[in-house]
Amino acid sequence: MSAKARKKKSTATAVKHRTKKPAATAVKEEKQTAAKLIPIYIMGKRYEVPEGLTIMKAMEYAGYILIRGCGCRGGTCGACGTFYRKPGDYKLQVALACQKTVEPDMYIAQIPFFPANRAAYDFAKLTTAPEEVFKLYPELFRCVACNSCTKACPQGIEVMDAISALKQGNIAEAARLSFDCIQCGLCTSRCFGELAQYHMFQLARRIYGARIIPRAEHLAEMVKAVNEGRYDRFLDELKQAKEDELKKLYQEREVEPMTAGEDWKPKDTTYL
Ligand code: SF4
Ligand code: SF4
Ligand code: FES
Repeated sequence: MSAKARKKKSTATAVKHRTKKPAATAVKEEKQTAAKLIPIYIMGKRYEVPEGLTIMKAMEYAGYILIRGCGCRGGTCGACGTFYRKPGDYKLQVALACQKTVEPDMYIAQIPFFPANRAAYDFAKLTTAPEEVFKLYPELFRCVACNSCTKACPQGIEVMDAISALKQGNIAEAARLSFDCIQCGLCTSRCFGELAQYHMFQLARRIYGARIIPRAEHLAEMVKAVNEGRYDRFLDELKQAKEDELKKLYQEREVEPMTAGEDWKPKDTTYL
């Protein structure tokens, strides 16, 4: 392979290993923590990284620049699905690289993307008939109930149960069970039946949200009030306000307590 081709190939990979200077953030982190170094293996190569770092930060510390496999850094986008294994342990473990902290002698491989079948459909024409889901994803019935998907889910979702619910035509139950899915694709990477569970779940949640769940009456009332101009005057006042006034309003606003019940209302009901 020519040098040019090698360069092109390396930039197309999910992560790019930098051999010269570590990232500025990693340097800062190193100075601040001065933590004990532990060995980990990234893509089979050994590195020493400070303990306490997340897998994602440890990779950056080791010199990797994450151009894929990294998004929210907060455990919600699903971009950083990772497999790892500890020496002497047959079990393949799963993690989100932005959440899991490194452990000595971890062998790590990130799965930033996994090719999976995603059906094309015109959502406006879909109904709640389960047969329509079956037609879009006939491979649903290739599930052999091995439960590997559930074991691979970093979100703790009962993936196989959600698939079973879909097979039984229970779209609402599939949507409920898969509510916390972050589309990381780790379940799909382990599936014997070659199902793209997370795309199926997304379809189930779309149908549930648009066609099954009862409409919220209070939301309809609020939309009507907005359309009728109930808040126009208040919005105009805010638009005219100076920055200091806006800051004061924001800082002094009444915040709903974390433990508030369903019937909580602010003391000042001017804007309700
Ligand atoms: S259900 Fe699959 S895609 Fe969704 S979070 Fe779990 S492993 Fe990831
Ligand atoms: S991994 Fe695939 S085949 Fe196994 S239970 Fe899950 S969906 Fe079914
Ligand atoms: S970067 Fe978004 S879940 Fe890890």
